[in-house]
Amino acid sequence: MIGGRKVASFSSMRLRFAGAILLAVAAYYVYLPLPGGVSEPWKLMLLDALIRGFMRRSNMSHALGLCHQVHLLNRVVSWVELIEARSSAGVLVSDGVLGGVPSRIFQATGGRWPKRGVLYFHGGGWALGTARMRSYDFLCRKMAEELDAVVISVDYRLAPEAMFPDQYHDALTASRAFLSKEVAKRYSLDRKRLCVSGDSSGGNLAAALGSDVTLTAHFKVQALIYPVLQALDFHTPSYQQNKAVPILYRPVMARYWLLYLGADPSLQLALLANNHSALDQPAISPAARSHLDWTVLLPAERKKEFRPLVVETGTPGLLGQVPALLDARAVPLLAKRDVLAKTPDAYVLTCEFDVLRDDGLMYAERLRRAGVRVTSDHYEDGFHGCISFAHLPVMSAVGRRAVDNYIRWLDHNL
Ligand SMILES: *[C@@H]1O[C@H](CO)[C@@H](O)[C@H](O)[C@H]1NC(C)=O
Ligand SMILES: *[C@@H]1O[C@H](CO)[C@@H](O)[C@H](O)[C@H]1NC(C)=O
Repeated sequence: MIGGRKVASFSSMRLRFAGAILLAVAAYYVYLPLPGGVSEPWKLMLLDALIRGFMRRSNMSHALGLCHQVHLLNRVVSWVELIEARSSAGVLVSDGVLGGVPSRIFQATGGRWPKRGVLYFHGGGWALGTARMRSYDFLCRKMAEELDAVVISVDYRLAPEAMFPDQYHDALTASRAFLSKEVAKRYSLDRKRLCVSGDSSGGNLAAALGSDVTLTAHFKVQALIYPVLQALDFHTPSYQQNKAVPILYRPVMARYWLLYLGADPSLQLALLANNHSALDQPAISPAARSHLDWTVLLPAERKKEFRPLVVETGTPGLLGQVPALLDARAVPLLAKRDVLAKTPDAYVLTCEFDVLRDDGLMYAERLRRAGVRVTSDHYEDGFHGCISFAHLPVMSAVGRRAVDNYIRWLDHNL
């Protein structure tokens, strides 16, 4: 009891300290011109200041050769955000493994048996984050509780130590275990009511599992939250509109892609210039181009006045250097129609103020055209990462709304 109180007061101290840092960092930044309509802009500005502060610091230590910048970011995250596996009323929480992959397991203890199951992959650019973070613990616990379900949140390996296809393979291994009779028996899972889900890079992994059609057919639903789905066009309308909107800036996304694919980080500028998908890159078939042709796949109200960036002559040999840019296991939007057609009922959450908005919208449209039943849940005032702030009382009303709607959709469809 006393120990528990000590832990609680230590973590609230850490939270207060994090709050103080946030304010201090914010003091260095005066104004961020955000587009009109974004949810709670001043809070997003503070967040932006905090992130830029971290990035500057982690860039600095990177330049000094102290450690890889994602290590520093992960250390900050673990200092502020990690929490122990603690059960709460109605939810048994433990850290374990799923098919050998470390995972945090949330089991609803009341209600009916067998239970519905959700396999969850957290976001963080394939390099950051963990199932043990406060935000993901909150989300998965809430899901277990409100859906009366078993939720397994997977700690797949992270870049830079692991790179494609490691993360994908961990997701595959965890999924195979999740769908097995043994795991169903162990957790009393209803094997006809299983969901695969994830946000951002975790949404990428959840969607990438579709390339293994024998596997995804066993899930009842697929639910993606602002997923990362393509790396060939960094000038979709949403990349153009939101390139400087926190918390995911366009250059940062390009950097995470290169890190995940094990490529030379100096290729960032070539990627941002769409040099890798120039018309003279023979490795990209016309069919592949059509899979992410936003001029066809997006509705007029998202295309707005934006123009496609079509490059005639690109960087020679770039795709040869990074062949995974054309691998549908890394880039799920490149999946062929007959593969997409095997996707179970799908839910795709997108945010207006997110460079990845069009990745999700194009994917939803392609699923629809392949005959899959899709719910496209778009937040006109949403920003990338908003659900990760839903647990903070002072942050992100849109995040809380998004979490509620996501869970409601699962409740009706799983
Ligand atoms: C960190 O470094 C990257 C590339 O080296 C650069 O694009 C970015 O602007 C830097 N960020 C900050 C906040 O200094
Ligand atoms: C893009 O490719 C062109 C043609 O090879 C080259 O001149 C240009 O420097 C490249 N841009 C970047 C940013 O790499």
